[in-house]
Amino acid sequence: MATSLLSLSLFLISFPFLPIQTALSSSTDSFVFGGCTQQKYAPDSPYESNLNSLLTSLVNSATYSSYNNFTIVGSSPQDVVYGLYQCRGDLSMPDCATCVARAVTQTGSLCPTSCGGAVQLQGCFIKYDNATFLGIEDKNVVLKKCGPSVEFEKESEIVGGRDAMMAGLMGGGGLFRVGGSGEVQGLAQCVGDLSLAECQDCLSSAIQRLKSECAAAAYGDMYLGKCYARFSTAGDNGHYYPKSHNGKTSQTPLFFYQI
Ligand SMILES: *[C@@H]1O[C@H](CO)[C@@H](O)[C@H](O)[C@H]1NC(C)=O
Ligand SMILES: *[C@@H]1O[C@H](CO)[C@@H](O)[C@H](O)[C@H]1NC(C)=O
Repeated sequence: MATSLLSLSLFLISFPFLPIQTALSSSTDSFVFGGCTQQKYAPDSPYESNLNSLLTSLVNSATYSSYNNFTIVGSSPQDVVYGLYQCRGDLSMPDCATCVARAVTQTGSLCPTSCGGAVQLQGCFIKYDNATFLGIEDKNVVLKKCGPSVEFEKESEIVGGRDAMMAGLMGGGGLFRVGGSGEVQGLAQCVGDLSLAECQDCLSSAIQRLKSECAAAAYGDMYLGKCYARFSTAGDNGHYYPKSHNGKTSQTPLFFYQI
């Protein structure tokens, strides 16, 4: 009885905060997508031990840097494992470390014994594999989500605001960019292994796709292999909670990276 009262009151206390969170303050630990390679490693193998060192390195590094990459070389060449993480540019270091630790835990349950895995949470991305992908631009669409169309009367205003905001993101420079125009807000993030020119190229592709594929949508998320761009309209921040929205989502199959 005491327990159920407690959980009920926690629910009542926490619920009112959900709708007022914005793109930038929404729960950084919530799941966006994940994927695993088909290749498996043998339990208790040298590869497993290298992978565990790699994952530990990612979590430790996230306490002091928002991006890092690691290559763990074992005694034999086939046991090498490559990995990186990228925190969203506005996260504090403690939040970055918490997010990466959570992403590591999620890959463990999503991809047990897979040679490679990747998880994107709202606040961070991690990826590891036994084939190198470090420093390689990847513009494949991993996840696309378009919200419902805005009301017809507001369409030109919102699309205009969105295009202005997107132009601001394109001109922003840097790996992490935020922008807003009128009722529209947006953000963009590249993975830190891209050069600034590659980041620009990747974001240009994500933004073009958002404009053409989420034309009059109230919000849109375009996650490519090494960058993403998102926008939302005032009053639509609820969509940052994937379970509570009903927009159209398409995700590539879980084995989304080609090896
Ligand atoms: C990755 O590991 C799998 C399974 O052991 C193996 O078949 C594949 O050749 C490895 N890839 C590389 C690049 O070493
Ligand atoms: C990986 O990390 C090393 C050491 O910090 C750094 O010198 C290198 O530039 C990084 N590579 C990429 C592709 O980010």
